[in-house]
Amino acid sequence: MLGKMAASVAEHGEDAFRTVFRFYKRRNPPPDFSQVIDFSKTVENERVFATELDHGSLSEEDACRAGLRPVKDWRAFSLQGYPGFIFISNPFLLGSQQYWVKQCLKTYPQKPNVCNLDMHMSPTETENIWEKSIDGIRKKGKREPRSLLEKLRWVTLGYHYNWDTKTYSADHYSPFPVDLHSLSQKVAAACGFPGFKAEAGILNYYRSDSSLGIHVDESELDHTWPLLSFSFGQTAVFLLGGTKRQDPPTAMFMRSGDIMVMSGSSRLLYHAVPCIIPAPASDPLPPCLGQHLGKEAGSDGLIKDVSEVEWEVCSKYLLTSRVNMTVRQVLGLGQTFPTALPRLGAVAESSGYHEESGQNAKKRKSESGYEEDS
Ligand code: OGA
Ligand code: MN
Repeated sequence: MLGKMAASVAEHGEDAFRTVFRFYKRRNPPPDFSQVIDFSKTVENERVFATELDHGSLSEEDACRAGLRPVKDWRAFSLQGYPGFIFISNPFLLGSQQYWVKQCLKTYPQKPNVCNLDMHMSPTETENIWEKSIDGIRKKGKREPRSLLEKLRWVTLGYHYNWDTKTYSADHYSPFPVDLHSLSQKVAAACGFPGFKAEAGILNYYRSDSSLGIHVDESELDHTWPLLSFSFGQTAVFLLGGTKRQDPPTAMFMRSGDIMVMSGSSRLLYHAVPCIIPAPASDPLPPCLGQHLGKEAGSDGLIKDVSEVEWEVCSKYLLTSRVNMTVRQVLGLGQTFPTALPRLGAVAESSGYHEESGQNAKKRKSESGYEEDS
């Protein structure tokens, strides 16, 4: 496999990251996934180390209120060669993922948050995306037109990311959801970052043929704070590279409930999602998603029970989808957005984000997010 990849680099002048990206993006025949790290199974080896988190940072009660297990029970890992990268293998309590999925599908796409559909539809057309979609999803037949929810690709929260200028700004802001802020603050504290402020969120919605292009998240003004990533639904392959496109990436599965933290010298590494792995027909949804909320959370916490009808829609949607929430702190302590106009050419210089392929370059960035179409 590595020999073939090296040959491809030589032939097409490709960078090592793109070669691996294409390898996992291939459909026919499907790629060999044997080199992909599986944290749900992996016990430690020469690349993967179990890592201790800060048990004292979060009481069992507070963890439970956000739908999380006690920190002492989390299975957290670090990767050889990637200091600051932490992978937490599904620390959610049984039943609580349903809440976050429902928030991503029903609550967070609502105004004043911004989504890809707003780029070419009027505010009234993109109002009540959930209500306009549920009948179609519930009675899903082959000829049913795709619902708005199924056309959703990204939602931005807090400081709304501008895909064209690759910046955040003070005047394009709506209040960050309190529940997601609380979840993020707790996870960040357990990872050694007490005081983390969730100021911007990008939610990505993947269908089974979606991918996410190679990019670095560098638009935040302060990079000393971690970037948190939460995944729900179908499994993805995640590629974590280096600071250069020539650095070959490490592949890992991201499953429902998994949390990833990019901090320290791993905060600004190239990464991408080349593919979503189709679930076996016998087991279309991971068992951790099917459970109903236990008594212990629900009552006094952040997490509310999801109704049966809501879950019917969410679970149908997730049969062929993955949802990912990334949460970022944009500003450092006491920092504000620069008020001066950017120098001419400043935008063009910030080329660190993902490269577009020829055919994608024509497409407006704001419509596709950093999704890579097949
Ligand atoms: C992002 C991102 C990865 C994922 O939104 O910046 O890299 O797993 N998402 O979807
Ligand atoms: Mn990213």
